[in-house]
Amino acid sequence: MIRVRDVRVSFNGRAVLQGVNLDVPHGKRTVVLGKNGCGKSVLLKAISGLIPLSGGSIWINDLSLEDFFRQREHPGGSGIMLAYVFQKGGLFDSMNVFDNVAFGLRRMKMNEESVHRTVIGALASVGLAGSEYKLPSELSGGMQKRVGLARAICLNPEIILYDDPAAGLDPILSDAIADLILEITGKYATTSIVVTHDLNVARKIADFVALLHDGVIVYHDTVDAFFSRTNEFSRQFIEGDTEGPIVEQAM
Ligand SMILES: Nc1ncnc2c1ncn2[C@@H]1O[C@H](COP(=O)(O)OP(=O)(O)O)[C@@H](O)[C@H]1O
Ligand SMILES: [Mg+2]
Repeated sequence: MIRVRDVRVSFNGRAVLQGVNLDVPHGKRTVVLGKNGCGKSVLLKAISGLIPLSGGSIWINDLSLEDFFRQREHPGGSGIMLAYVFQKGGLFDSMNVFDNVAFGLRRMKMNEESVHRTVIGALASVGLAGSEYKLPSELSGGMQKRVGLARAICLNPEIILYDDPAAGLDPILSDAIADLILEITGKYATTSIVVTHDLNVARKIADFVALLHDGVIVYHDTVDAFFSRTNEFSRQFIEGDTEGPIVEQAM
């Protein structure tokens, strides 16, 4: 469903992505692992159309990214939505939870009655019923992330890109977020890419695992193959082998 071909992204002449190739199958969860600063967020933002490519191409359902976003807006277009869940929740500090979740719906000019129903439903499904009128500053980090998830799922997207949803959470909360991702993708048959550095999250939710290293995908296989450690890259990543080239610091 999503094809990433030879994608390059540079900032001020410094190449971060240096020819990324990745196939993300429909209705599956693909987990992207890689050490801090290797370009995982840049890859998700490139797929979301938030940063321009310096080279290569991205295809969604056989449409170039440009055509995908253009025809989605078009009346009678595919209507396929893509949502990007920011690493830090990405909430507007001055808006309460309800307005944060409603933001995208209102921008699509949904009527207020439907907005209300959709927002309340999305908040309930992430376990935040009753928090509608709180400000982000009154919520814990884990709750803010769940608001970010609610904002994404209320758009009913077929594709969700999760940027490090477990970052900064303790193991119990990370596990709860992993459960939520399983539930969301199961319920809506969503195609998803989940960036994480948390191997427990990866083990729990991944159908496929891809490893980003030195600007390219050096490994891509099923989750079972990944954890069988038969590949040198996956073994190094799992074992945190500091002698190997991959893991200097996975956190
Ligand atoms: N908008 C930007 N301008 C300049 N450099 C950036 C920008 N976004 C990311 N980078 C750089 O790209 C590299 C990869 O960043 P990122 O994708 O956030 O890493 P991570 O794998 O931890 O998500 C980092 O060195 C970061 O400083
Ligand atoms: Mg990141």
